[in-house]
Amino acid sequence: MCGIVGYIGDKQSAPVLVSGLRRLEYRGYDSAGLAVLDGKKLSVVRATGKLKNLEGRVATDPPQGKIGIGHTRWATHGRPSDENAHPHTYEGVAVVHNGIIENHLVLKEQLKAKGHAFSSETDSEVFAHLIAAEMKAGKRLVDAVRGAIRQVKGTYALVVVTEHEADRIVATKDSQPMVLGLSQAQNFVASDIPALLEHTRDVVFMEDGDLAVLTPEKVEIFDAANKAVTRAPRRIDWTPTMAEKGGHRHFMHKEIFEQPRAVADTLRGRVLRSEGTVHFEGWNFTPEQVQAFTKVTILACGTSYHSGMAGKWMIESLSRIPVEVELASEFRYRDPIVEKTHLAIAISQSGETLDTLAAMKEAKARGAATMTLCNVIGSAMTREADLTVLTNAGPEIGVASTKAFTTQLIGLYLLGVKLGRLRNHLTVQQAQEHLTHITEVPKLVEEALHSEAAVKKIARTYVNAQDFLFLGRGPMHSVAMEGALKLKEVSYIHAEGYAGGEMKHGPIALIDEKLPVVVVAPKEPKVSYEKIAGNIEEVRARGGQVIAVIDADDKHLTQLADHVITIPPSSALIAPIIATIPLQLLAYHVAEMRGNDVDQPRNLAKSVTVE
Ligand code: G6P
Repeated sequence: MCGIVGYIGDKQSAPVLVSGLRRLEYRGYDSAGLAVLDGKKLSVVRATGKLKNLEGRVATDPPQGKIGIGHTRWATHGRPSDENAHPHTYEGVAVVHNGIIENHLVLKEQLKAKGHAFSSETDSEVFAHLIAAEMKAGKRLVDAVRGAIRQVKGTYALVVVTEHEADRIVATKDSQPMVLGLSQAQNFVASDIPALLEHTRDVVFMEDGDLAVLTPEKVEIFDAANKAVTRAPRRIDWTPTMAEKGGHRHFMHKEIFEQPRAVADTLRGRVLRSEGTVHFEGWNFTPEQVQAFTKVTILACGTSYHSGMAGKWMIESLSRIPVEVELASEFRYRDPIVEKTHLAIAISQSGETLDTLAAMKEAKARGAATMTLCNVIGSAMTREADLTVLTNAGPEIGVASTKAFTTQLIGLYLLGVKLGRLRNHLTVQQAQEHLTHITEVPKLVEEALHSEAAVKKIARTYVNAQDFLFLGRGPMHSVAMEGALKLKEVSYIHAEGYAGGEMKHGPIALIDEKLPVVVVAPKEPKVSYEKIAGNIEEVRARGGQVIAVIDADDKHLTQLADHVITIPPSSALIAPIIATIPLQLLAYHVAEMRGNDVDQPRNLAKSVTVE
């Protein structure tokens, strides 16, 4: 989720690039950089932190040249630092990259053996080296870029300039967005439209495998088969704010709809299907250590705590290690019992939540091994933990967490499979079955998003409700809790999430004809499904309004409920991920219909760094 801009034309490029990056800062903001070409030589400026740090450096010593590329970074490989900031350069070649090179370690080793010296910890730097090597072997820039791409496994939006062909920009992409901006005597490339709007509204969306050559006068595009193609320009009439949100009204909506991509990024490079296991970069727990774990303690707050609840179900069933899920704010003040054979997992989108960080430190001080499942590389938790597993969801701007939750669930499922294999609880074949289910998630999430029209109708019906009850059993209990939290966060309607079995012990007293009860009831796991049908009957018998989230092929519950929201059927440990999607949409639409500030709900903060 980095932001890329490229400019070639009749103006000085640095100011154009900086203002383009400013418009893309929502895509990542831990470091930024520019490479400017003056027709002969490259000048590179980079700075850690927000874009204003780069702006400061550019203002002091402006790089001169009418060709340039810029980047704002959301780190995935290598912590935020000046060295890890893009552009990366090698022997007169400068690149900016968005995406992940899965085989970067192998490529780095091969290049090092040929005498290449690397100056960053990033995967992206590999591109500069591969292209420089191809050019040294006599290739033109276009062919060198194609040659580099052929060696890389992963995803990319890549923009390149070089001193060796100092009159052009080359851009190519696969599975990452890239858009070309067309104008008089100048042309642009960017990862998203907001960077272009100040200069042009005529854009071409590049397709996977496309390679574009930009000069001030023209843009040529070649498809994956290297055939020249014409892609019709589109006229964009978005306002700059609309553009930042990709046409969505709010970041929350955009982030809900980004989830197929986000979960795919969490999976990328991690599923080793033929071996029936999972690869986590930097995994440093020995098999003996994992065999010896007697307990996993999950520490988290808010939405991350709910993913921990589902994670307990996943890790226990896949590895048979007992799991406790603790509210971080309670754990740290409880004189907790921690052994050297415990693994403490801090789950956090931001990696900065004070209570979670302090709880993890507490567990570490008492001898536990520590791990964080986190979305922000370089954050406090990733610096503190023995092991970091990144969720790779990209920046989450909406205060109410959405894609962070579903990517955490994927991370926990993968972790469960890894632990299950290391402890020989899962056979290779069983692990392979789970991995097959996991790789279906992006497609299933995409399908679950089709529930939006049905959800919107229900939102309209209950927009003025005073209270909501959410029920779920087994792993769906955490989904019910998360559904209730989402609704109260953004709509300000009082909502409670309950385990279905607990309904009789209190919440049943609340049920009357005004109370909407959202029942999360996919068919898997069966043991939860059979029981939750009973809860639906109990609510109906007392006149309550049932909104059931059910599998699309469930004829039985369709008849029992007042309203149904259907999701694609899935396996037991996937179902919590899929069932969460319509509940996020419900919260969003109710809040939006009530005219609330969806992205910045009252009294809440994205990152709670105080007690
Ligand atoms: C705040 C946010 C929530 C988030 C919680 C934990 O309350 O508003 O959306 O779930 O913090 O944040 P973390 O970054 O640790 O996941």
